[in-house]
Amino acid sequence: MELPKLKIGEWQTSLPIIQGGMAVRISLAPLAAAVANEGGVGIIAGSGLHPPELAEHIRRARKLTDGIIGVNIMVALGEFAELVRTAIREKVDLIISGAGFSRDAFKWCHNANIPFVPVVSSERVAKLAERFGAATIVVEGKEAGGHLGTDQPLLSILPRIIKAVKIPVIAAGGIFRGSDIAKVLSMGASGVQMGTRFAASEESNAATAWKETYVRAKPEDVVIIESPVGMPGRALLTPFTKALFAGKVPKPVDYKRCVKCLKHCKKNYCIIEALVRAQRGDMKRGLVFCGERVGEVKEILPVGEIIKNLIEEFKEATLRVV
Ligand SMILES: Cc1cc2nc3c(=O)[nH]c(=O)nc-3n(C[C@H](O)[C@H](O)[C@H](O)COP(=O)(O)O)c2cc1C
Repeated sequence: MELPKLKIGEWQTSLPIIQGGMAVRISLAPLAAAVANEGGVGIIAGSGLHPPELAEHIRRARKLTDGIIGVNIMVALGEFAELVRTAIREKVDLIISGAGFSRDAFKWCHNANIPFVPVVSSERVAKLAERFGAATIVVEGKEAGGHLGTDQPLLSILPRIIKAVKIPVIAAGGIFRGSDIAKVLSMGASGVQMGTRFAASEESNAATAWKETYVRAKPEDVVIIESPVGMPGRALLTPFTKALFAGKVPKPVDYKRCVKCLKHCKKNYCIIEALVRAQRGDMKRGLVFCGERVGEVKEILPVGEIIKNLIEEFKEATLRVV
């Protein structure tokens, strides 16, 4: 069986695969454009970028592809409103947003005719998003990388949410192979959002040391940390997360250079510094977000090959079912 197309708002892609936005600076123009060129949806992570930088990355991506390009912006960010307005001005094809719920963003995107896609993990928020006019929703289970809105597995929340809403649903968290795509599509999802498998791609903007840490990771190296955002986060056990568990990571006041990246920061440590360090390859002092299935990343591949594998795995899985 062929992979179905994905239709959101007025556009359609040849593959139902969205590359999840990954901050800070992991999914930028090259990764998003590579995925879009393969027929998926490429997402630039806006969180941690200033508005002019986001505009520059959207323009760069547009030069690299004619495909579908969106941005991901966390509601919890201090610059959320300005980043969303920037993405709208740059005429992105969609805006995906998690870590909070913004009523205003629905209005702004609706007025600009740009699909606004919230990331949700419960029926209650899914219904709320539908009521506010979401074009579609990303349903993210606890297997996902980065900030988590639930401790429930994707396959337990997905059917309940699909039943609760009429809009298309994108499944995220622990989607790693084509067989996983086959599984969630058979449950009624319209597409998938994948992070971890693309984070280790050649086109990802993570440092090589960061990608190699993914390749070496074992399932038991995956931990849950407390984020200053006020949500749990899934990350790798590294010297940084070990120090965090031991209460030995300095608080932002020690740095005296807080950039107020979050609307509300718990100030238990500086997350933007920790994420930027990891992205640059400082594996001792950096925070490496990852999904639960990072242990299955065996090599750093170009996006084209990852997509080719996913298509083959999907075909194989659906052949077996028929
Ligand atoms: C390194 C990393 C950074 C991420 N950053 C963000 C982000 O900035 N905003 C967001 O909504 N999701 C973020 N995510 C979640 C992904 O977009 C995606 O939904 C999730 O990783 C899917 O699960 P998977 O990694 O098992 O495929 C991040 C995930 C990873 C691995």
